[in-house]
Amino acid sequence: MSDSPTAANRQCQPKPTSPAGMIIREREPVNFEFPFDQLQSFLTPNDLFYIRSHFKAPMLDKDSYELRIDGALRAPLVLGYEELRKLPSETRAATLECAGNSRVFLVPQVGGAQWELGAVGNAEWTGVPLRLLLEEAGLAEDAVEIVFEGADRGKAKERPAPPQPISYARSLLRSKALAPEVLVAYQMNGRDLPRDHGYPVRLIVPGHYGMASVKWLTRIYAVREAFHGYWQTSDYGFWDELDGKPIRRPLSEMKLKSQIARPNMYEVLAAGEPYTVFGAAWCGNSQVTELEVSTDDGQSWTAAEFLDDVKSFAWRRWQMVWQVPRQGGRYRLVARAKDANGCSQPATHDANYGTYVINHLLPIEVFVG
Ligand code: MTE
Repeated sequence: MSDSPTAANRQCQPKPTSPAGMIIREREPVNFEFPFDQLQSFLTPNDLFYIRSHFKAPMLDKDSYELRIDGALRAPLVLGYEELRKLPSETRAATLECAGNSRVFLVPQVGGAQWELGAVGNAEWTGVPLRLLLEEAGLAEDAVEIVFEGADRGKAKERPAPPQPISYARSLLRSKALAPEVLVAYQMNGRDLPRDHGYPVRLIVPGHYGMASVKWLTRIYAVREAFHGYWQTSDYGFWDELDGKPIRRPLSEMKLKSQIARPNMYEVLAAGEPYTVFGAAWCGNSQVTELEVSTDDGQSWTAAEFLDDVKSFAWRRWQMVWQVPRQGGRYRLVARAKDANGCSQPATHDANYGTYVINHLLPIEVFVG
């Protein structure tokens, strides 16, 4: 568990906020964080959903919008916005978490946006199942991956980076691309996608970290060899091992994680009173089935109660009533989730993930008195 007060101190610095109350991490390109201590509803309202963009949001127009589907398939397609809207659609809730969420908890401090707990949100997405489009286009038997490209372009920052401007592009393995949950989405919580969330059309990959859900989607192409693009090697990659040798792989499934929304870091709680500890937990390809809270830095644990039923790919909010001790002082709260496979969150961050995948136990320190 990260135990430096520096990480906590960093979270208590004053922060600029947007008119909707989002924490501004960067104005251009827009990178806004949801103030996680304000978590209420199962669905995050659109104007409070975190925004993570690498380049300036492109201005796309519904009337001239085109989605090209080509590469290793028999019948390449070009679809306009209205054509896409006429195809069979589905709506499903899915939690998106940025792979760099909670980076401020890493000790020593690392570079990159200093996300606290709010680079995560849960929305209902409406769109066409990707599988239908790939079937319609006659995906080749030997296509191994599908690449998704956004209309945004710019100079990449993480080294090594190509010298010229590039677009945002990520691939999915064939098996995930054909899974029923993956959507080519045009609505978020029942409304047109907001511009910063990919208007007019984006990919939604439930279960994967947010980087897989390509915004401003304009091209889908099938490939016969693994794709090694910038956004899954230099950036959003991790070190795995093959025959004892380190190899680079793309980040994909979200790891099991729980976060405390309330109390907030360094909140002062009334001694001897009950306090409802509240938060959310999620994971990528399993289900969150247990949640425990410790108020004594991990020495003892109490089961929390879930407020949401199990729904694949969506978070579950939880709460636990804590009888705050009469004795004043500093207390350390931690939440720990378990999934349907019996796995628990790790105690420490795995360095193979670099500045990403921060799903270890995250302490919240409070004062009583
Ligand atoms: N798609 C494009 N085209 N450009 C981007 O910069 N950012 C990715 C992903 N899709 C990105 C993108 C990352 S890193 C995340 S976490 C999610 O979008 C964030 O989606 P949101 O801004 O709608 O919350």
